[in-house]
Amino acid sequence: MTARGCFLTLEGVDGAGKSTHAAWIADTLRALGHTVVATREPGGTPLGEKLRGLVLSESMTLDTETLLMFAARCEHVAQVIEPALARGDWVVCDRYTDATYAYQGGGRQLGMERVAVLEQWMQPSLRPDCTWLFDVPLELARARLADARQPDRFEREEAAFFERTRSAYHARAAAQPERFRIVDSSQPMEQVRTQLQAQLQAVVQAARSA
Ligand code: TYD
Repeated sequence: MTARGCFLTLEGVDGAGKSTHAAWIADTLRALGHTVVATREPGGTPLGEKLRGLVLSESMTLDTETLLMFAARCEHVAQVIEPALARGDWVVCDRYTDATYAYQGGGRQLGMERVAVLEQWMQPSLRPDCTWLFDVPLELARARLADARQPDRFEREEAAFFERTRSAYHARAAAQPERFRIVDSSQPMEQVRTQLQAQLQAVVQAARSA
């Protein structure tokens, strides 16, 4: 029987730099001989990408926003993530359910219980094997965003929203230390990579000996 693949996710507030590292993690795993599916949320399927376009641009109620995040995720898990893991592929996903806890639960103040209900309904058992939380002081995240392309609906939010989001991420990381690795991504890129490389090796080793 093929061993199930590993499910790795990357999280952090906008401007934390996780997307660059997601591509690098996928390439590093491929170089080690793994088949890797690199994907993202919201999105990852044709329908999910359409939903992404809507949630990032249209104004909507908080419940609608939250349900659309989970609708996109539901497709993503069924069409992409679960089949890949069952084939033995590794999945590197740029954001997953922790983002809904942090952004909708924390940033938008929906509360964690509402998100937990949806998580329990949509994916009662699927949890990442390892989650990197890319952390930067908010001023740096904001400065990085200011240099970037046209900001989306989330990136235009006020500083207090990102403070709540960041602290919700930290609370999740503190509650599940065995799953989370916090990376100080205000460090120079090379230092972040060295830290990631060591952590990735540990994940690969753990998967081999499982
Ligand atoms: P992001 O990873 O920042 O995309 P990019 O780097 O290409 O801009 O994700 C898009 C936004 O979606 C981001 O601001 C966070 C938000 N988001 C939520 O609010 N809840 C969620 O559950 C997910 C997955 C993302």
